[in-house]
Amino acid sequence: MSWNRKHLLDIESLSPEEINTVLDTARAFKAVGERAIKKVPALRGKTVINLFIEPSTRTRISFELAAQRLTADIINFTAEASSLKKGETLKDTARNLEALNADIIIIRHSATGAAHFLSRFLNASVINAGDGAHEHPTQALLDTYTIRERKGKIAGLKVTILGDILYSRVARSNIWALLKLGAHVTLCGPSTLVPKVFEKMGCRVTHNVEEAIADADIINLLRIQHERQRKSMFPSLGEYTSLFGLNKKRLAITKPDALIMHPGPINRGVEIDSEIADCGRSVILEQVTNGLAVRMAVLFLINGGKGPQEVG
Ligand code: CP
Repeated sequence: MSWNRKHLLDIESLSPEEINTVLDTARAFKAVGERAIKKVPALRGKTVINLFIEPSTRTRISFELAAQRLTADIINFTAEASSLKKGETLKDTARNLEALNADIIIIRHSATGAAHFLSRFLNASVINAGDGAHEHPTQALLDTYTIRERKGKIAGLKVTILGDILYSRVARSNIWALLKLGAHVTLCGPSTLVPKVFEKMGCRVTHNVEEAIADADIINLLRIQHERQRKSMFPSLGEYTSLFGLNKKRLAITKPDALIMHPGPINRGVEIDSEIADCGRSVILEQVTNGLAVRMAVLFLINGGKGPQEVG
């Protein structure tokens, strides 16, 4: 299977073969990153713009580094210092960036559909770096990459996603990717944040944390997305932690080789005890490292690369 898409807007519309092409290409770029000279000229002469209208550490920096490793020019747009503050629209902002020769625009925005919106009128390629509570495709790709690298497969694995599913774009993209690749997905959290409607996507839904984690191969924890909740969705953070937080006692009932994942940022002492975040079964920083190779792969493929066979 070779890649043939101009944009990366979501996981929902990707085929399993397309997802595997990204993961295989990322593996090739990870090998490049282990060489003494880590740079390749694949995007020489291209201009990439990080158009982040919401805060980010991991996604923005890893896209920046990925573009540099591919020898592209990369510009970081700073929303606070931009003419958005003077009332310029997102559409006009993006069209002005394109007029400055942007070839690829990476957008993070609080509005669902922001990346799809830009892709409808720009000639530049668009990558969705997170749109509201909708999707965060590169996070799901780096998560599935990490699972596949650690476990050797994805099909047949039991993956539990624990936390604020309702407001999480990471959860939605992961659910699509994991189901397409043949994993069994369990969702767990308060009933206000994990409604039964997710069963329609093909997931198991439970509000009992012990039941959710006991037989899981992967436990992917999510923070509470306070910034997207119009009202508090449960009585208190303390109650959330006591009912759903991953602590030593709960870790003891999990499979000894179950991996602990989290997309970050972590709220230590809320969804995860600090010592568990740093324990030997946590692959949280590996996820971040793999994000660089995955984002190199995405930039490479979006720019016309066909697959891992073309990574030199
Ligand atoms: N996981 C993730 O998207 O992290 P950032 O918000 O720091 O980019």
